[in-house]
Amino acid sequence: MSSKISKIAVLTSGGDSPGMNAAIRAVVRTSLHYKLQVYGVNRGYEGLIDNDFTQMAYHSVSNIIQRGGTILRSSRSEKFRTVEGMQTAFDNLAKNEINGLVVIGGDGSFKGAKELSEKFAINCIGIPGTIDNDLYGTDYTLGYDTAINTAMHAIDNIRDTAAAHDRLFFIEVMGRDAGFIALRSGIAGGAEAILVPEMKTNLDQLTSTIEAGWKKKKQSMIVVIAEGDDAGGAFKVAESVKKKIKNCEIKVSILGHIQRGGSPTCLDRVLGSRMGVAAVEALLNGDKNVMLGLEHRSIVHIPFSKAIKHHKVINKNLLELSEILST
Ligand code: F6P
Repeated sequence: MSSKISKIAVLTSGGDSPGMNAAIRAVVRTSLHYKLQVYGVNRGYEGLIDNDFTQMAYHSVSNIIQRGGTILRSSRSEKFRTVEGMQTAFDNLAKNEINGLVVIGGDGSFKGAKELSEKFAINCIGIPGTIDNDLYGTDYTLGYDTAINTAMHAIDNIRDTAAAHDRLFFIEVMGRDAGFIALRSGIAGGAEAILVPEMKTNLDQLTSTIEAGWKKKKQSMIVVIAEGDDAGGAFKVAESVKKKIKNCEIKVSILGHIQRGGSPTCLDRVLGSRMGVAAVEALLNGDKNVMLGLEHRSIVHIPFSKAIKHHKVINKNLLELSEILST
């Protein structure tokens, strides 16, 4: 393997996700394996602008593969969106003689990486890291598997208490404007209905589904709602249903940030490890301006432009499946 890359930097940007540490560890150890110098950038693009770099050694990433969050910390940098901010970021990379950058984050982070690659002499490779799984070009993003398992366990716990009291629960999960977390955790939790932003919510139909469930003598009912759903979230949906269905105790639970933390699953640790290795090898091969993806269990390269532009579609068959199973 030959290339001009000699110093690599790695950063995490946007919402953190479990598995980011596994990816950082893999980037650091693969760089050292190929005798490259490697730097960790603190707080994402903010750290690039503030020249906040730490040289990483083998032991800098010891004992982190099992930890959620990101040891490099993260940010959503407004400054990096400005011409001056991006110029300062590049000047700092150049000052430190860094010519390869690995960005672990979501689509906002890749918009920045794309611009940086195109305007300046720095090769950028992206690793998709977000619990939302909303990036085109990859079956899985880092953290998604952990998040759906966390949400599923929370739904299981709520099911226990819901069944003990014959209650109807509306459970809101994260996902920004995508329904991937809701769909998977809802199916796995045996939800009676799943509301996702990708489908228009029909409150009359939802009410009928709930009424049919009670008629079947169900002891509990669970509706999983993606935070970006067009009906305005779990509290609003619960309010509307309350007006239509009497004699039924309704509760709302917003799962929130517990879905973002926690020890990564095996899938996220292995995915982070594979992508970290692939990112360094891509830089050594002279690749740039691409996001790594997992397609049919293989690592693929997707141009940033494609990953950012295209919308990842939800599997409508799974939505139908959940309706069959819950009615
Ligand atoms: O993108 C990850 C995510 O957790 C989304 O699911 C959620 O909408 C958002 O980030 C929350 O962001 P913050 O932690 O800044 O409130």
